[in-house]
Amino acid sequence: MLAVAAAIIKAVEERGPSAKPLPGGPLRELASRDGIAIGTAVDATALRNEPGYRDVLGREFSSVTPENAMKWDAVEPSRGDFHWQDADALVGFARSHDQKIRGHTLVWHEQTPDWVRALPPSELRKELKAHIFTEVGRYKGQVGAWDVVNEVLADSGTLRNDFWLRKLGPGYIVDAFRWAHEADPDATLYINEIGADDENVKSDGLYKLVRALKAQGVPVDGVGFQAHLSLDGVPPGMQDNLRRFAALGLKVAITEADVRVRQPANDMRLDVQGGVYGDLVRLCRNVQGCASLTFWGFTDRHSWIPTSSPGYGSATLLDDQLEPKPAYRAVVQALR
Ligand code: XIL
Repeated sequence: MLAVAAAIIKAVEERGPSAKPLPGGPLRELASRDGIAIGTAVDATALRNEPGYRDVLGREFSSVTPENAMKWDAVEPSRGDFHWQDADALVGFARSHDQKIRGHTLVWHEQTPDWVRALPPSELRKELKAHIFTEVGRYKGQVGAWDVVNEVLADSGTLRNDFWLRKLGPGYIVDAFRWAHEADPDATLYINEIGADDENVKSDGLYKLVRALKAQGVPVDGVGFQAHLSLDGVPPGMQDNLRRFAALGLKVAITEADVRVRQPANDMRLDVQGGVYGDLVRLCRNVQGCASLTFWGFTDRHSWIPTSSPGYGSATLLDDQLEPKPAYRAVVQALR
């Protein structure tokens, strides 16, 4: 009897809370007046199991990014063994809800399977090309923007000394953009970076890199700024930083915004968090060429922060019952 009850409770929990319309929204309608796509990362398991999660996702957002489902370790965990189910499900959902899709990510030093890392240089280059053609080709005309390379810089602003650089040299970045462009000439191709939101040595390095790529005719169209923020606020130089990239004729996008809060959260902290979210929205509105603002998840029920930053949480717009927090209201306000 107890076991049955426990199973029922578990099944109900897996379906997650139900969703009510959110006050002041939907965000996608507000943002569309400025021509800004408002997006979120999507958790594949929640998308599959939680009706309330799907409701909010479809109603509030005009852009989606797979949080993990298009990473190399997800789509080809062992050589030649492809798993497209989660990625396909997201693409299907987005299409039926008139949402743009940001493909994330083709080349990264993390979440790349061991079999790839172990390859000798010549084979690695061949497999990278095949990976890009296979994935971009599969979603040609459906995924409108790709994070072609992710986090290629070290904090010093020079190229990250990872297995890509060590085995293939700096040309891997050029190759990746050229191959992605060949696979889908209409896709908008981004370089995505962490910790380059402010004006700092890392964003200086990024600026020099994209300027050089453009000068060489490499098909890079945009720069993504992850914006994993804290209650310290939006970095003071972020607006000018995005503007200098836009002035190169590039699109700029805020790609993974969240605002982590030291636990336990309290009303004051959540109000401060709302202020940070509002500032970020205003920043995107103020920067010509800020094409999209994507949050890294929209409910505290599914956020990477408690795992990636122990002691922190409450990083998103809605609580774990899909109820709006001050952050949601601040985003609504800032979009008005
Ligand atoms: C994170 C996901 O949110 C986690 O679920 C996963 O375990 C690790 O990756 N920068 C990125 C994202 O570009 O892909 C990362 O996503 C967060 C940091």
